[in-house]
Amino acid sequence: MSDDKDHQEVIYGLCKKRGFFWGPSPEIYGGAAGLYDLGPLGKLLKNRLESQIRGSFVKANFWEVECPTVSPEIVWKASGHLDGFIDPVTVCTKCDQSYRADTLIEEQVPDAKIKGLSLDEMTEKMEELGIVCPSCKAELGPVTQYNLMLKTQLGLDQTAYMRPETATTTYLLFKRFLTFFRRKLPAQVFQIGKAYRNEISPRQGMLRLREFTQVEGQIFILEADEIDWEFFPAIADDTLPLLPYQNQEGESDEVVEVSMKEALEKGYFQKQAYGWCVHLAYQIFRSMGFTDDMMRLRQHLPNERAHYAKDAWDVEVYTESFGWVECCGVHDRGNYDLTRHKEFSKEKLYVKVDKKPVVPDVLEIAFGVERPLYCLIDNAYEEDDERSWLRFPPSVAPIQVAVFPLMGKDELESKAKEIYEDILESGLITYYDRSGSIGRRYRRQDEIGTPYCITIDYDTLEDTTVTIRDRDSMDQVRVKYTELVDTLRLLVRGEKRFSDL
Ligand code: GLY
Repeated sequence: MSDDKDHQEVIYGLCKKRGFFWGPSPEIYGGAAGLYDLGPLGKLLKNRLESQIRGSFVKANFWEVECPTVSPEIVWKASGHLDGFIDPVTVCTKCDQSYRADTLIEEQVPDAKIKGLSLDEMTEKMEELGIVCPSCKAELGPVTQYNLMLKTQLGLDQTAYMRPETATTTYLLFKRFLTFFRRKLPAQVFQIGKAYRNEISPRQGMLRLREFTQVEGQIFILEADEIDWEFFPAIADDTLPLLPYQNQEGESDEVVEVSMKEALEKGYFQKQAYGWCVHLAYQIFRSMGFTDDMMRLRQHLPNERAHYAKDAWDVEVYTESFGWVECCGVHDRGNYDLTRHKEFSKEKLYVKVDKKPVVPDVLEIAFGVERPLYCLIDNAYEEDDERSWLRFPPSVAPIQVAVFPLMGKDELESKAKEIYEDILESGLITYYDRSGSIGRRYRRQDEIGTPYCITIDYDTLEDTTVTIRDRDSMDQVRVKYTELVDTLRLLVRGEKRFSDL
């Protein structure tokens, strides 16, 4: 990641001032790294993103479930997380401060190619690049591994862990899914819920959290369906920006724009269903407001993959603060998980194919909500000599419409309140503001990304029209208030452009 401290400071400053997020939390006790509070606008924005995500999964035939966030130790022994969910750590030989080794190298030498290095190779790399302790400048110790799970206890003596992913808790339900889906595969489910990772001294604010909301979609599938996937033809001609691992070996990372069909022919994806999952992940990010110019899909190097993954592609988003940010992982987990849980639980976690037991494969789309939330704000930020504003797409803006009486006079206020309630009832997220000059009220809404402001003035009382003011162009048009709610709905859904009013 590159590092633009100025932009980061502007975004964090704005977010804290306007109530998107605060932290590290708990602020009044000095804060613990990797914990953040969402303020009212951050929570609204997160709700909007989750609603888009839910909509995309449901449209693609996934069913939502919710599982406990804490599970007994055996679950994580079986899943492989106790042995394999690890990060490289280095400890200062003088002040004992610990650091995540790969992050430290990337921060000090942004061009260093360290993806996929073993622990010994990373130790050598640190020596070669002269990486020292950022706080006391002393030598750092060898890179070792560190488990990222948060340990806890159930009752008096049962060791348990907070889940580091929702995925495993979904797999534990496989027998129940067989009944629910009437023993027919593929079965598609997703979860949105909290996950926990005990990161080593996280220093990237909202990008690396110890507690976060994870979204994970899972497809339980048999090999024949993976190869010949019913929904693939519908996307075969769509083009995606792909960065296969072979293109990451040279100096420049070359993105290829090819259709899904070609990507399969070239061997970037081995199977149709997995390619379809990568495509779906990209569409989910589009539905959250990310545009093609700020996204790419990067394949993991073979030795960079998680312990359960046969193949992995990330959705990456470009930000001014951090350069390319990994925001979502799409994993071909093969039958690793169900095989392990079958072995450890002794349950029949398989289906019968031609009367023989077969453990299905799992394809997964996995991401935390807070990263895209931050990246969306980072990308939405605009400023000129007059003002700063957040150019959120109206479909995800935390507040979609603000209503103002021009002045705090009774007759204007009662009309403005009536109009405010009509818009609110239509389901749009609406805010009423009567305080300060009209100019200041516009600026406040610009700064939090509200796309449309409605002003009620004396003409409204005469000719039943109101003004709609557009955040990006600052243009205003008058519309009849009987047509206002329908017009706003069309604008917010992107079915009408402001310039066509
Ligand atoms: N379940 C995959 C992940 O947590 O990244």
